[in-house]
Amino acid sequence: MNKNILTPVFDKMLSRKEKEQLLQQRSLMIWFTGLSGSGKSTLAIALEKELHGRGLLCCMLDGDNIRSGINNNLGFSPEDRIENIRRIAEIGKLFMNTGVITIAAFISPETTMREMAASIIGKDDFLEIYISTPLETCERRDVKGLYAKARKGEIKDFTGVSAPFEPPANPALAIDTSRLTVEEAVNMLLEVVLSKIRIEN
Ligand code: ADX
Repeated sequence: MNKNILTPVFDKMLSRKEKEQLLQQRSLMIWFTGLSGSGKSTLAIALEKELHGRGLLCCMLDGDNIRSGINNNLGFSPEDRIENIRRIAEIGKLFMNTGVITIAAFISPETTMREMAASIIGKDDFLEIYISTPLETCERRDVKGLYAKARKGEIKDFTGVSAPFEPPANPALAIDTSRLTVEEAVNMLLEVVLSKIRIEN
């Protein structure tokens, strides 16, 4: 793509600040990373509900949803996972620039792809949350039956079984759902998140 033929009008559009003012909130990307079955979607849904109940507008982006829509042409090769995360980060940025608190729940298994997402979104707006539930628990839950299939070799490149997962070195928060209830985990999240999304007039 030749960037010279593009004339973006970002600077002429209403600003993020103006949208945030309208919504009376500061936008933020809350990025959950963790194994399949670790509890990312469950916590993202519960957190969104809590924030919504406080009058805050959120948008949740989730692996299975995004992969059944805009990213339905992507698989699980390392290249496709990078492209998956790149598009999600770009979509997330559109929501962020609309003042919306965005909650992303993707395995995003490698440090480099999470760094890419953070750099697209902007490091200061990127809150990395590691859902650190151990593999054994995720596999025991096997909510979607995918670990069993991966062990039998029916799914290849399955994260935690036949594809890598690199835990984040320095997450804003680590949550192990084998040790906490959803309510406890959401309270921990609210403690970190609320102070960042309040607006001072
Ligand atoms: S990511 O690695 O590219 O970030 P993403 O979060 O979008 O993954 O999608 C993960 C979901 O896809 C899993 O929760 C699971 O339901 C499904 N899935 C299907 N095949 C795989 C696989 N090979 N590895 C991991 N997840 C898979």
